[in-house]
Amino acid sequence: MRMAQAVRAPDTNSAAGEPAAAARPPAIEVLGAEKIFSNGVRALAPIDLTVNQGEFVTLLGPSGCGKSTLLKMVANLIEPTSGGLMWWGRDYGHVGEDGKKLVFVFQDPTLMPWARVRGNVRLPLDLAGVPKSEGDARVDKALATVGLEKFDASYPRQLSGGMQMRASIARALVTEPNLLLMDEPFGALDEITRNKLDQDLLDLWFEKTLTVVFVTHSIYESVFLSTRVVVMAARPGRVLREVVIDEPYPRDDAFRVSQKFAAYARDLQVLLAEASVSGAAHD
Ligand SMILES: Nc1ncnc2c1ncn2[C@@H]1O[C@H](COP(=O)(O)OP(=O)(O)OP(=O)(O)O)[C@@H](O)[C@H]1O
Ligand SMILES: [Mg+2]
Repeated sequence: MRMAQAVRAPDTNSAAGEPAAAARPPAIEVLGAEKIFSNGVRALAPIDLTVNQGEFVTLLGPSGCGKSTLLKMVANLIEPTSGGLMWWGRDYGHVGEDGKKLVFVFQDPTLMPWARVRGNVRLPLDLAGVPKSEGDARVDKALATVGLEKFDASYPRQLSGGMQMRASIARALVTEPNLLLMDEPFGALDEITRNKLDQDLLDLWFEKTLTVVFVTHSIYESVFLSTRVVVMAARPGRVLREVVIDEPYPRDDAFRVSQKFAAYARDLQVLLAEASVSGAAHD
């Protein structure tokens, strides 16, 4: 992926003259959405959360606090038991009408082992009936964006874990989404590879003014990536606190080793400890 060169204003990914992310219209509104599964598990207490267009919001919290459940509700893969959600100010039935699209990236690359990288990345376009010539150009562009242009004829088993994840991200980008939903996409990778992919993802977000909702267990990943970290607590899953990461983009390794980074990480550590204790108190 290409490095972004421009410098954005602090606390937003907007270019000069554009409104800050907090002032932009919402991409997603979670409006008192609650989830009780059919086995009686109350995965989410009523949640209120707004993600504005152009934000990079991370959901951080202990295992079982409902991060995946919330993200799947945002993807409309799970329906809330009560309350509701809005996508770009309207209900889900309108998604796609004015070019607004969302895509979900799972933790596992979920590539088809029998198909080459190109075929895997093409899949959403084939399913949507996009003509071959237009599809080819879009696949080339998506592969170049994730730095896999030379591996289009490889099979998934010939790629490293990090490269498989890149292919999975290319398959998401080929649909040209406005909203990227990622559930611990780099959780299974070693730290060096994860840091590299975090950097590349951030550069991509920065260039395209995508909106991202990202789930992670990692405090460091959440501080590095996010405009805002939403700390969740368990039993039932709820939002404990929201922390704005007030640091300009592009961010690089200098931020990772800065005192400011360490201070954010410490604050989030304390909040996560609180989230775990308050969850246990409901057992
Ligand atoms: N389909 C389901 N049916 C019943 N209970 C479920 C279902 N999916 C999740 N749960 C329960 O809901 C709660 C929240 O689960 P969820 O997977 O959203 O948590 P999470 O924060 O993503 O956890 P992790 O960090 O381990 O991925 C858990 O108690 C889980 O066991
Ligand atoms: Mg999960």
